[in-house]
Amino acid sequence: MCGIIAYVGDQPAQPIILSGLRALEYRGYDSAGFVVRENGQWRRWRASGPVAALAAKMNGASIRSGCGLGHTRWATHGAPTEVNAHPHAGGQDEVMLVHNGIVENFSRLKKKLAMVGTVFVSETDTEVLAHLIALCYAGDLVSAVAEAMSRTEGPLGIAVMHRARPDEIVVARRGSPMLLGLTDRGRLAASDAAAFAGWTDQVIYLADNEIARLTADSHQVFDARSARVDKVVTTISPAETAAELNGFPHFMRKEIYEQAETAASAWRGRLDPVTGAVKLGGLLDCQERLKNCSELIIAACGTSYYAGLYGQYLLSESAGLDARAEIASEFRYCQRSYPAAAALLAISQSGETADTLAAVRLAQAQGLLSLGLVNVAGSTLARETAAGVYNHAGPEIGVASTKIFLSQLAIFNLLALFWRQLHGRDRAEDLAWAQALVGLPDKIRQVLALDNRIAAIAERFCHYPNWLFLGRHFNYPVALEGALKLKEVSYIHAEGYAAGEMKHGPIALVSPEVPTVAIAPADRLRAKMIGNIMEVKSRRGPVIAIITAGDEEIKELADEAIEIPPTLDWLYPLLAVIPGQLLAYHAACLLGRNVDRPRNLAKSVTVE
Ligand code: G6P
Repeated sequence: MCGIIAYVGDQPAQPIILSGLRALEYRGYDSAGFVVRENGQWRRWRASGPVAALAAKMNGASIRSGCGLGHTRWATHGAPTEVNAHPHAGGQDEVMLVHNGIVENFSRLKKKLAMVGTVFVSETDTEVLAHLIALCYAGDLVSAVAEAMSRTEGPLGIAVMHRARPDEIVVARRGSPMLLGLTDRGRLAASDAAAFAGWTDQVIYLADNEIARLTADSHQVFDARSARVDKVVTTISPAETAAELNGFPHFMRKEIYEQAETAASAWRGRLDPVTGAVKLGGLLDCQERLKNCSELIIAACGTSYYAGLYGQYLLSESAGLDARAEIASEFRYCQRSYPAAAALLAISQSGETADTLAAVRLAQAQGLLSLGLVNVAGSTLARETAAGVYNHAGPEIGVASTKIFLSQLAIFNLLALFWRQLHGRDRAEDLAWAQALVGLPDKIRQVLALDNRIAAIAERFCHYPNWLFLGRHFNYPVALEGALKLKEVSYIHAEGYAAGEMKHGPIALVSPEVPTVAIAPADRLRAKMIGNIMEVKSRRGPVIAIITAGDEEIKELADEAIEIPPTLDWLYPLLAVIPGQLLAYHAACLLGRNVDRPRNLAKSVTVE
């Protein structure tokens, strides 16, 4: 949450910082700010609203300075007003600071600082940190930051300037991501490599509690004890920073349309379609431990958690693994001890979700093997887990996750096959499974071709304020995800339910004004879903059914039917999720919502 970008070099900082802020806007977009030091003065602009509002405010300003900080905010402490926007000043304006994280002991510190005469102008926790750094400064900004960090609690990623050192930026991380970008014409720092697109592909990932000093032609990294650390420079691929719309009106739409390729990339080079054998390079080193794994806890948040629920069903049924999905924010406070042979699989698109990382650390503290299923290479989760699997799905920019959910489901199929093969299960079955996977991208394309039909359904129902999504078993997570998507981007209230639970409450909501999306493909629970559809229809509730092509029986019952191609029972979710994504997308567009940046949300939730 919150995006930081900093630049020091021989080029004007403004275009570099603004382009970085645009790339980071998915991390928060309720206010933005920019500061440089020029001719002995701070020049600071801040605006509530998106980066475009900041850019408009700066329009026409001639800024030549090559050293500055930028920030895009997702408010935690204090409303998204201009005065609460970063950069925040500390001391008598000696310090300027941008911050991603939370100062958990801020109210105690604030009281102490107020006692020595500090006047606060904002409601933020960040301002406390800015004043603290100013107070700790005695000629060396790195030491001041280290000292201030030691007095604060909570996750942070920061970039700081001091007026006595106008050509130097100090950045630090503890919990929140921070990486450096190296160019011939200066140094960058940011919360995410996406901010470096077009400027550099040479990066250094800071580890927790590291502090870096940047100047136009140098960078030094220090550990928590102020000792110099030699860091490895990594070359990132253009795919890791690419964020182009390529003619699509929104990233969400583009990412929905990328899903055939997303699925194919999940198993490219990992699944042999001729033998059905699966090779997962990221798990090679821990194969023995995985073989003896007694129990797998799958921890994640949001959409990733729903993918975990699918993984729970799939791994326990097909790989005989005792798997259980847990909401990471709940799991992290669960005071239970686990057997040493248990493992934890954390799932996260960003690899930066605070609760998911906390779940990993909890598991590691108990000596469990920690695994990651993550999209962003080099993210904290990727680096902190002992082993894992990448999605290889390219950046996902739309705040509401789409292609990564599908990718996570695809990878659970690989994991299930992998586990089966680890235990020498029947290869003939695996081969049929592998071939069905290989044929899936074509079927995904067939579902995407229903877009116009789905848009028409969205148009018919988008003014209904409450929706239900029902599914059973493998399609239960799809129902949850369908409802979440609709809520997130269109702000229509929706509930996802296990269809069998409908009689235990949600049926009271059924009426002609409440559409029900019933996920009812021709799997072994089709007849049960028909029962649910009948119950909705007999209460005059409109039904949008997602069915296997040619299912005339359900088509006749439903008000609208979306026909997806036939596949294996457990692969239906990879097709059935797409109509829900498109319904949400079209409803949001029809209602005039900001599809890629829904209100109050952020893509990367780096605070608890
Ligand atoms: C936020 C995003 C969701 C995402 C969730 C978990 O809430 O808006 O789209 O599913 O975080 O994110 P992660 O990066 O851990 O998958």
